[in-house]
Amino acid sequence: MLKFGLLIVLVGLAAAVESDEFKWDTVPPAGNSSQCIYKPETRQLGCRGMSGIVQCEVMGELPKGFEVFGMGREELEGDSPIESIRYFLYPRELNETEYENHIIQVENVAHNVSLYHLESMTETVGLRVPDVKCWSRFIDLFKASTGIQIVKVEDMTTEVSLFGEILVVDKQAQKRWLGWGLGWGGLGLWGWGLGWGLNPFLWG
Ligand SMILES: *[C@@H]1O[C@H](CO)[C@@H](O)[C@H](O)[C@H]1NC(C)=O
Ligand SMILES: *[C@@H]1O[C@H](CO)[C@@H](O)[C@H](O)[C@H]1NC(C)=O
Ligand SMILES: *[C@@H]1O[C@H](CO)[C@@H](O)[C@H](O)[C@H]1NC(C)=O
Repeated sequence: MLKFGLLIVLVGLAAAVESDEFKWDTVPPAGNSSQCIYKPETRQLGCRGMSGIVQCEVMGELPKGFEVFGMGREELEGDSPIESIRYFLYPRELNETEYENHIIQVENVAHNVSLYHLESMTETVGLRVPDVKCWSRFIDLFKASTGIQIVKVEDMTTEVSLFGEILVVDKQAQKRWLGWGLGWGGLGLWGWGLGWGLNPFLWG
Protein backbone atom coordinates (compact mmCIF):
# COMPACT_ATOMS: atom_id res chain seq x y z
CA MET A 1 0.00 0.00 0.00
CA LEU A 2 2.80 2.33 0.95
CA LYS A 3 4.65 1.46 -2.25
CA PHE A 4 1.55 2.16 -4.27
CA GLY A 5 1.14 5.58 -2.70
CA LEU A 6 4.78 6.44 -3.33
CA LEU A 7 4.44 5.43 -6.97
CA ILE A 8 1.50 7.77 -7.42
CA VAL A 9 3.44 10.63 -5.86
CA LEU A 10 6.44 9.97 -8.10
CA VAL A 11 4.35 9.72 -11.26
CA GLY A 12 2.51 12.87 -10.29
CA LEU A 13 5.80 14.65 -9.72
CA ALA A 14 7.24 13.57 -13.07
CA ALA A 15 4.11 14.70 -14.90
CA ALA A 16 4.19 18.04 -13.09
CA VAL A 17 7.83 18.63 -14.01
CA GLU A 18 7.27 17.76 -17.64
CA SER A 19 4.19 19.90 -18.19
CA ASP A 20 5.63 22.77 -16.17
CA GLU A 21 8.82 23.00 -18.19
CA PHE A 22 7.07 24.67 -21.12
CA LYS A 23 4.24 26.29 -19.14
CA TRP A 24 1.73 25.19 -21.77
CA ASP A 25 -1.23 26.48 -19.81
CA THR A 26 0.12 30.02 -20.32
CA VAL A 27 0.46 29.58 -24.11
CA PRO A 28 -2.64 30.65 -26.02
CA PRO A 29 -3.58 28.01 -28.60
CA ALA A 30 -3.00 29.09 -32.20
CA GLY A 31 -5.76 27.63 -34.35
CA ASN A 32 -5.23 23.96 -35.10
CA SER A 33 -1.53 24.37 -35.64
CA SER A 34 1.43 22.72 -33.94
CA GLN A 35 3.14 24.96 -31.43
CA CYS A 36 6.65 23.92 -30.48
CA ILE A 37 9.05 25.32 -27.96
CA TYR A 38 12.74 24.50 -28.15
CA LYS A 39 15.02 24.95 -25.17
CA PRO A 40 18.66 24.71 -26.32
CA GLU A 41 19.85 24.59 -22.71
CA THR A 42 18.04 21.34 -21.95
CA ARG A 43 17.90 20.11 -25.58
CA GLN A 44 14.17 19.55 -25.22
CA LEU A 45 11.63 20.17 -27.97
CA GLY A 46 8.04 20.24 -26.78
CA CYS A 47 5.12 20.50 -29.18
CA ARG A 48 1.45 20.98 -28.59
CA GLY A 49 -1.05 20.08 -31.26
CA MET A 50 -4.62 18.98 -31.64
CA SER A 51 -3.91 15.54 -30.21
CA GLY A 52 -1.91 16.63 -27.18
CA ILE A 53 1.66 17.38 -26.13
CA VAL A 54 4.81 15.55 -27.22
CA GLN A 55 8.27 16.22 -25.86
CA CYS A 56 11.51 14.76 -27.22
CA GLU A 57 15.22 15.21 -26.78
CA VAL A 58 16.88 16.73 -29.84
CA MET A 59 20.40 17.05 -31.21
CA GLY A 60 21.91 19.58 -33.56
CA GLU A 61 21.62 23.31 -33.90
CA LEU A 62 19.41 25.91 -35.50
CA PRO A 63 20.81 28.89 -37.44
CA LYS A 64 21.61 31.72 -35.05
CA GLY A 65 19.79 35.02 -34.87
CA PHE A 66 16.22 33.73 -35.23
CA GLU A 67 13.66 33.22 -32.52
CA VAL A 68 11.03 31.47 -34.61
CA PHE A 69 11.07 28.71 -37.21
CA GLY A 70 8.00 28.03 -39.33
CA MET A 71 7.41 24.34 -40.01
CA GLY A 72 6.46 23.13 -43.47
CA ARG A 73 5.94 19.64 -44.82
CA GLU A 74 8.26 18.24 -47.44
CA GLU A 75 6.30 17.14 -50.50
CA LEU A 76 7.24 13.54 -51.13
CA GLU A 77 5.86 11.17 -53.70
CA GLY A 78 4.08 8.16 -52.31
CA ASP A 79 4.29 6.88 -48.77
CA SER A 80 7.67 7.21 -47.15
CA PRO A 81 8.74 5.44 -43.96
CA ILE A 82 8.47 7.63 -40.89
CA GLU A 83 12.24 7.52 -40.47
CA SER A 84 12.83 9.47 -43.66
CA ILE A 85 10.17 12.12 -43.13
CA ARG A 86 11.47 15.60 -42.44
CA TYR A 87 9.97 19.02 -41.93
CA PHE A 88 11.49 22.16 -43.42
CA LEU A 89 12.18 25.00 -41.03
CA TYR A 90 11.78 28.59 -42.22
CA PRO A 91 13.69 31.02 -39.97
CA ARG A 92 12.03 34.22 -38.83
CA GLU A 93 12.99 37.02 -36.48
CA LEU A 94 10.29 37.59 -33.93
CA ASN A 95 9.78 41.20 -35.03
CA GLU A 96 9.48 40.31 -38.73
CA THR A 97 6.46 38.88 -40.51
CA GLU A 98 8.38 37.42 -43.44
CA TYR A 99 10.17 34.09 -43.20
CA GLU A 100 13.51 33.22 -44.72
CA ASN A 101 14.23 30.29 -46.97
CA HIS A 102 14.80 26.86 -45.45
CA ILE A 103 17.86 26.43 -47.65
CA ILE A 104 20.93 28.10 -46.20
CA GLN A 105 24.56 28.22 -47.18
CA VAL A 106 27.02 26.75 -44.71
CA GLU A 107 30.60 27.24 -45.90
CA ASN A 108 29.31 27.66 -49.46
CA VAL A 109 27.37 24.41 -49.39
CA ALA A 110 23.56 24.50 -49.50
CA HIS A 111 21.72 22.77 -46.68
CA ASN A 112 18.05 22.19 -45.92
CA VAL A 113 17.21 23.46 -42.44
CA SER A 114 14.92 20.77 -41.09
CA LEU A 115 13.47 18.86 -38.20
CA TYR A 116 14.40 15.26 -38.97
CA HIS A 117 15.30 11.85 -37.64
CA LEU A 118 17.87 10.13 -39.87
CA GLU A 119 21.50 10.83 -39.08
CA SER A 120 22.33 9.93 -42.69
CA MET A 121 20.62 13.07 -44.02
CA THR A 122 23.95 14.79 -44.39
CA GLU A 123 22.72 17.69 -46.51
CA THR A 124 20.38 18.57 -43.69
CA VAL A 125 21.02 20.88 -40.75
CA GLY A 126 18.74 21.75 -37.87
CA LEU A 127 17.23 19.64 -35.13
CA ARG A 128 17.38 15.86 -35.14
CA VAL A 129 15.21 13.62 -32.99
CA PRO A 130 17.32 10.48 -32.50
CA ASP A 131 14.69 8.40 -30.68
CA VAL A 132 12.47 6.85 -33.32
CA LYS A 133 9.58 6.21 -30.90
CA CYS A 134 9.52 9.84 -29.87
CA TRP A 135 9.90 10.87 -33.51
CA SER A 136 6.82 8.88 -34.51
CA ARG A 137 4.83 10.67 -31.79
CA PHE A 138 5.87 14.01 -33.33
CA ILE A 139 4.77 12.76 -36.75
CA ASP A 140 1.34 11.75 -35.45
CA LEU A 141 0.97 15.12 -33.76
CA PHE A 142 1.99 17.07 -36.87
CA LYS A 143 -0.29 14.99 -39.10
CA ALA A 144 -3.21 16.00 -36.93
CA SER A 145 -2.46 19.70 -37.46
CA THR A 146 -5.08 20.94 -39.86
CA GLY A 147 -4.39 24.62 -39.29
CA ILE A 148 -2.36 25.85 -42.24
CA GLN A 149 -0.89 29.30 -42.77
CA ILE A 150 0.09 30.50 -46.20
CA VAL A 151 3.13 32.76 -45.75
CA LYS A 152 5.63 34.75 -47.75
CA VAL A 153 9.23 33.65 -47.80
CA GLU A 154 12.06 35.99 -48.72
CA ASP A 155 13.47 35.36 -52.22
CA MET A 156 10.80 32.78 -53.01
CA THR A 157 8.24 33.41 -55.71
CA THR A 158 5.71 30.89 -54.44
CA GLU A 159 4.10 31.13 -51.04
CA VAL A 160 4.61 28.36 -48.55
CA SER A 161 2.15 26.65 -46.25
CA LEU A 162 3.13 26.15 -42.64
CA PHE A 163 1.41 23.94 -40.09
CA GLY A 164 3.23 25.21 -37.04
CA GLU A 165 6.12 27.10 -35.52
CA ILE A 166 9.03 26.44 -33.24
CA LEU A 167 9.79 29.14 -30.72
CA VAL A 168 13.38 29.14 -29.46
CA VAL A 169 13.54 29.88 -25.77
CA ASP A 170 16.95 30.72 -24.38
CA LYS A 171 18.50 33.51 -22.38
CA GLN A 172 19.57 35.49 -25.44
CA ALA A 173 16.13 35.38 -27.04
CA GLN A 174 14.60 36.32 -23.72
CA LYS A 175 16.81 39.42 -23.59
CA ARG A 176 15.72 40.45 -27.10
CA TRP A 177 12.05 40.02 -26.25
CA LEU A 178 12.47 42.18 -23.19
CA GLY A 179 14.20 44.76 -25.40
CA TRP A 180 11.09 44.91 -27.57
CA GLY A 181 8.87 45.25 -24.54
CA LEU A 182 7.53 41.74 -24.96
CA GLY A 183 7.71 40.47 -21.42
CA TRP A 184 8.37 36.85 -20.57
CA GLY A 185 5.00 35.16 -20.37
CA GLY A 186 3.29 38.16 -21.90
CA LEU A 187 0.93 37.90 -24.83
CA GLY A 188 3.61 39.10 -27.24
CA LEU A 189 5.78 36.11 -26.49
CA TRP A 190 3.28 33.30 -26.06
CA GLY A 191 1.06 34.48 -28.89
CA TRP A 192 3.88 33.60 -31.30
CA GLY A 193 5.21 37.13 -31.29
CA LEU A 194 4.18 39.29 -34.17
CA GLY A 195 3.61 36.40 -36.49
CA TRP A 196 0.82 34.33 -35.07
CA GLY A 197 -1.66 35.51 -32.54
CA LEU A 198 -0.87 39.19 -32.61
CA ASN A 199 -1.15 39.42 -36.40
CA PRO A 200 -4.89 39.43 -36.94
CA PHE A 201 -4.62 38.63 -40.65
CA LEU A 202 -2.76 35.43 -39.97
CA TRP A 203 -5.37 33.70 -37.85
CA GLY A 204 -8.36 35.81 -38.89
C1 LIG B 1 -10.01 23.19 -35.62
O1 LIG B 1 -10.48 21.96 -36.13
C2 LIG B 1 -11.80 21.66 -35.74
C3 LIG B 1 -12.13 20.25 -36.22
O2 LIG B 1 -11.53 19.96 -37.45
C4 LIG B 1 -12.71 22.72 -36.36
O3 LIG B 1 -14.06 22.47 -35.99
C5 LIG B 1 -12.30 24.09 -35.84
O4 LIG B 1 -13.07 25.10 -36.46
C6 LIG B 1 -10.85 24.34 -36.11
N1 LIG B 1 -10.44 25.58 -35.45
C7 LIG B 1 -9.74 26.53 -36.04
C8 LIG B 1 -9.44 27.73 -35.23
O5 LIG B 1 -9.33 26.42 -37.20
C1 LIG C 1 13.86 43.57 -36.21
O1 LIG C 1 14.98 43.64 -35.34
C2 LIG C 1 16.26 43.72 -36.00
C3 LIG C 1 17.32 43.76 -34.95
O2 LIG C 1 17.19 42.72 -34.05
C4 LIG C 1 16.31 44.94 -36.90
O3 LIG C 1 17.53 44.94 -37.62
C5 LIG C 1 15.15 44.93 -37.88
O4 LIG C 1 15.13 46.11 -38.64
C6 LIG C 1 13.82 44.79 -37.12
N1 LIG C 1 12.73 44.68 -38.08
C7 LIG C 1 11.58 45.34 -37.96
C8 LIG C 1 10.55 45.07 -38.99
O5 LIG C 1 11.38 46.12 -37.05
C1 LIG D 1 16.43 20.35 -50.07
O1 LIG D 1 15.24 19.60 -50.22
C2 LIG D 1 14.65 19.71 -51.50
C3 LIG D 1 13.29 19.05 -51.48
O2 LIG D 1 13.34 17.75 -51.02
C4 LIG D 1 15.59 19.09 -52.53
O3 LIG D 1 15.01 19.16 -53.81
C5 LIG D 1 16.89 19.86 -52.49
O4 LIG D 1 17.83 19.24 -53.35
C6 LIG D 1 17.46 19.90 -51.09
N1 LIG D 1 18.56 20.84 -51.10
C7 LIG D 1 19.72 20.57 -50.56
C8 LIG D 1 20.73 21.62 -50.62
O5 LIG D 1 19.93 19.51 -50.06
